[in-house]
Amino acid sequence: MTHMPCPQYRYENDELMCEKVSLSALAKEFGTPLYVYSKSALLDAFNVYQTILQDTPHLVCYALKANANLAIIELLAQAGAGFDIVSGGELARVLAAGGNPHKVIYSGVGKTVKEIAFALEQEIHCFNVESIPELDRIQSVAASMDKVAPISVRINPNVDAKTHPYISTGLKNNKFGVAYEDSIELYKKAQALPNIRIVGIDCHIGSQITQASPYLDAADKILDLVEQLRVEGIELQHIDFGGGIGVRYEDRDTLIDMEHLILSLKEKLHTRGLGHLTMIFEPGRSIVANAGCLLMQAQYIKKTEVKNFLITDASMAEMARPALYEAWMPVYETSKRSDCEPQTYEIVGPVCESSDWLAKDRQLAVEVGDYLAMMVAGAYGMSMASNYNARPRPAEIMIDEQATHVIRERETIESLWCNERLLGKR
Ligand code: LLP
Repeated sequence: MTHMPCPQYRYENDELMCEKVSLSALAKEFGTPLYVYSKSALLDAFNVYQTILQDTPHLVCYALKANANLAIIELLAQAGAGFDIVSGGELARVLAAGGNPHKVIYSGVGKTVKEIAFALEQEIHCFNVESIPELDRIQSVAASMDKVAPISVRINPNVDAKTHPYISTGLKNNKFGVAYEDSIELYKKAQALPNIRIVGIDCHIGSQITQASPYLDAADKILDLVEQLRVEGIELQHIDFGGGIGVRYEDRDTLIDMEHLILSLKEKLHTRGLGHLTMIFEPGRSIVANAGCLLMQAQYIKKTEVKNFLITDASMAEMARPALYEAWMPVYETSKRSDCEPQTYEIVGPVCESSDWLAKDRQLAVEVGDYLAMMVAGAYGMSMASNYNARPRPAEIMIDEQATHVIRERETIESLWCNERLLGKR
């Protein structure tokens, strides 16, 4: 990899910096593994959406699952974001961070009665309904609370997002959304329910999408439905185009031209006389990925007949993407050395699984004790971290120019079993 994900990360005198702070210095001060985020990179990424959409009714709902740290939610809430959630826990996080529940949309195929009641109490913007049984459940919970539930229907447009199968969601064989062919019937049913108010339509075809065409194809199919709904006398207030915009991990990854994409979507709305509808987006990765990195320290260099392993103190427990999706994540030295030759390494962690690797075939000039930065790690890094092998989850730091804010303390070992109970002597 030769590019940096965003201007906030760059080398200055061979030291990798986040804004005005040296990453090596941060690693020394706070220990590793350590997640670091640039505040201005986060805001820049969010503002890409806000700026392009400024003259259109819109709501950008940050998908919390990408990174749900309270400080990140707080920052985005203050910048005007709404939130896409998939659990009661995520709604509680939005509230704890001072986010506005009226700007929350609730996706996901398995909403429980308790979660639905909590979301109704908080008067969220809408439920993205994913099936008829879910619609029935929302109706009955809303009736029991004497409330009217705002809903949107998540349509499965049967479009191939051309991404990794594990993060593709808009095909017929996926569990997500309502089949395209069944959607009008579902809307008609919803319209007849006394405690349901239809507000929108929604789709999300997958994640790490790097071409505009699947996105635009899905939008066309959704807009066809909006027109059919109009014929049925069902008027909507918003269209939610989902999240899924990709970022550049590898140099060869293509990027969607956001301005072009959003302007094309806007134009599609206007052509069909639907320019009054609010445009909603549910981006996660494209807001936080580039802003974050994961710092780790080289522990051992283990040379074998077939390859050189660089064993670090980070693992699949802190960053699961390579193990789960064979994801290619960029890795850099935090201090560039001229006193040792670059070698090719497979970067692995200490976890007892062969899938515990972080990067393969990387040329690095590194010695034991040096720090490395895995870049583009802000999305689906910490939010998917686990305690596997009794590993406390890392601390998280937010950088604001030269200021360093600890936005999550490193977990203590004792906290790992604080909810466990011994059986005691019998
Ligand atoms: N809306 C819904 C309904 C979603 O399911 C998702 C992501 C998003 C929005 C946000 O998508 P984004 O803009 O972040 O692509 N762990 C995987 C990604 C899983 C995505 C799940 N859904 C990874 O690390 O690649």
